[in-house]
Amino acid sequence: MSTFHIKPKIEFGENSLNILKEYNIKKCFIVTDNSLIQLKLIDKVLNILSKETEVEIFSEILPNPTIEMIEKGMKSMLKFNPDVVIALGGGSPIDACKGMLYFEKKIEEEMAIKSSKRFFIAIPTTSGTGSEVTSYSVVSNGEKKIALSNDQMLPDLAILNPSFMETLPSHIIADTGMDVLTHAIESFVSLKKNCFSNAMAIESIKLIGKNLIEHYKNPKELKYRENIQNASCLAGIAFNNSSLGINHSIAHTIGAIFKLSHGRANAIIMPYIIEANTKAREDYEVISKELELNIVKEQDGKIVLINYINEIKEIMGIPNCLEIIGIDFEKFKNEIPEMISEIRKDICTSGNPNIFDNESLIKILFKIYFGK
Ligand SMILES: NC(=O)c1ccc[n+]([C@@H]2O[C@H](COP(=O)([O-])OP(=O)(O)OC[C@H]3O[C@@H](n4cnc5c(N)ncnc54)[C@H](O)[C@@H]3O)[C@@H](O)[C@H]2O)c1
Ligand SMILES: [Fe+2]
Repeated sequence: MSTFHIKPKIEFGENSLNILKEYNIKKCFIVTDNSLIQLKLIDKVLNILSKETEVEIFSEILPNPTIEMIEKGMKSMLKFNPDVVIALGGGSPIDACKGMLYFEKKIEEEMAIKSSKRFFIAIPTTSGTGSEVTSYSVVSNGEKKIALSNDQMLPDLAILNPSFMETLPSHIIADTGMDVLTHAIESFVSLKKNCFSNAMAIESIKLIGKNLIEHYKNPKELKYRENIQNASCLAGIAFNNSSLGINHSIAHTIGAIFKLSHGRANAIIMPYIIEANTKAREDYEVISKELELNIVKEQDGKIVLINYINEIKEIMGIPNCLEIIGIDFEKFKNEIPEMISEIRKDICTSGNPNIFDNESLIKILFKIYFGK
């Protein structure tokens, strides 16, 4: 038996925030990060809420949210007891908010107390993790990053409003855009994919191919912003149903130890995983064709895809290996046994088309470090 899950309801486009007026929100708990308050992005939400709505804001979320941030936010949420919870931000505030709701449910289950019903709305401000439509939450604990998965964390409503992306700096457009591409590609080659997830993944890949560089170069242009936001959401629906792959497991592990942005880690790793995934050769070829890449006769579609990824990374100033960004080699080498253990434990690993033994994994890690 296979399942394709469709939730939440998605409201998208320029006026999509107006949907908030249709809910009779009495007490609203907003989880966000401080930058989004400074940038006044939160005002767009506050201005739509009714004057009667009581609001509490928890803004102590930083990139790669920790278990401590989630615990603190959950305590504030429980004390306030809202009927609606809004997560506003990139993957970090959305994942942190999911964590708060998830651990609240766990406590209720353990204590056998009546379950609280909180309507959960996710408003992404990056494009992005797709977290607004996934049942995943990635939580950091010291130098470890763990991906939790539970359908209870799926939002009830996702609002895709392109006006939130106007303030994104170009390096975040680059990193988060490459995260979307990694989601869509890993979904399309996943061992757990199906025809539904494939359709979403391919549409996302096509939108990325046609819009990411344009969006990076013209961040104020609505059309590109909107298309990349939709691509991010489509990729989220895809991988929520197909799982991801070892690219993400390595990104979680390396990102946690060396404090790298999630999208940048994925972008650095991607060419080496595509190269190593010999079992997905035909799927990569399909992706190259869908991206309308020029495959000369007898040429390998997978190599063409790797070249394309390296080209767009170069345009967006993303380095091709960890050595360039100054990660200490001795520390990297010493961490290898721990990294391998974490990569094997990550829930994304089981979706990867190839299974790698330790020797192969070490070779891949060295390529990611040295770029060759
Ligand atoms: N839940 C999932 O399915 C899923 C999938 C992939 C990644 N993740 C996780 O999500 C996190 C990464 O999320 P992210 O890449 O969206 O970044 P993020 O939420 O960590 O934000 C990165 C930076 O961008 C800033 N920012 C966000 N929106 C902005 C805007 N509109 N204008 C200006 N600045 C803005 C934030 O303040 C922050 O400084 C990681 O922890 C990653 O592991 C989750
Ligand atoms: Fe990701």
